[in-house]
Amino acid sequence: METTALENEDKVEYGTFEATVERSRKIEEDLPVNPKKYRVLTGDRPTGKLHVGHLFGSLQNRVRIHKLGVPTYIVIADYQVLTDRDTFENIAENVHQLVVDYISVGLDPEAGNLVIFPHSHVPELNQLILPFLTLVTNAELDRNPTVKEEIQAAGLKRINAGMYVYPVHQAADILFCKGNLVPVGKDQLPHLELTRTIARRFNDRFAKKRSVFPEPQPLLSKAPVILGLDGSQKMSKSRNNAVMLSATEDETVALIKKAKTDADRVITFDPEKRPEVSNLLLLVSLATGEEPDAVAARIGDGGSGKLKAILSETLNEHLRPIRARRRELEAAPDYIKSVLRNGIRDARAVAEQTLSEVRRVMNMEV
Ligand code: TRP
Repeated sequence: METTALENEDKVEYGTFEATVERSRKIEEDLPVNPKKYRVLTGDRPTGKLHVGHLFGSLQNRVRIHKLGVPTYIVIADYQVLTDRDTFENIAENVHQLVVDYISVGLDPEAGNLVIFPHSHVPELNQLILPFLTLVTNAELDRNPTVKEEIQAAGLKRINAGMYVYPVHQAADILFCKGNLVPVGKDQLPHLELTRTIARRFNDRFAKKRSVFPEPQPLLSKAPVILGLDGSQKMSKSRNNAVMLSATEDETVALIKKAKTDADRVITFDPEKRPEVSNLLLLVSLATGEEPDAVAARIGDGGSGKLKAILSETLNEHLRPIRARRRELEAAPDYIKSVLRNGIRDARAVAEQTLSEVRRVMNMEV
């Protein structure tokens, strides 16, 4: 039996984190110089509205990159929602809200070079999963640390096979458009590594002379992890510690008022010893561009009351235009639908081309 595609299973290189950071830095330098060399593919699961953690962690980065002129694809991974939860009732609404959030933060579908689509509507993308599945082993899928964590976090008693296979689906999300740059957080690096492995093995096996797929690079954002207002874990809607982009100004003030701080009146930026206060300072800094230390110095012995007042004001100010745009878009559901329809059309056109190329090199043309 021919097993060449999998013989290098043990050679999957998980390259060091530092090397990935360094590569990301080099790519960042090159992006403004050669924007058209890259095709960015990134995305989200439609599990609800987005919050300021998303804004500062990933959304602003996407807006910046798209504005540099880099062709940008954003996949809304609706099938992935089914891997770790039973409910599907809200998927359509969540997809809709995600697009509202994207556009209100400044991703502009009218500017061209931006394709926003739910992967459930792109059959040719999904079909790539079948050949890709033959290029990885069960053991490799079983070993994925992010999948393991998600199984734990969701407390799953029975794990559906989709959970083990979704990283292969993610490879199809990235490779269907030959995406070569994937802005992601650290938790997604194992999936990127698998995508690179699949691209490499596909080329080795089926496309020796002229490779079909690029080996996509992860692009790690410089944004630090943003904690929730409880200061103890990542900001997340389900942990009830998030400021939603869609919240009102009054809701924002009330949430920040309840944020956890500590007893020391003198405000200092010290993420190790004072995570709660430092996280609030970081949020001010992200909203104003001022260094966290400078914000702390400005507050001095004003205590957490002053810190919270400043954060409420600066965050509301930063979010004001986003929220105004959001309200306009909420009143224009047909526009959101048209963005999705155009995105699906463009994604399908690319996916059809890639799938026919894949059929050709696999000797499956008729
Ligand atoms: N797994 C990603 C998450 O949970 C979402 C996702 C799906 C994605 N397909 C992708 C991210 C492709 C980047 C590229 O956040």
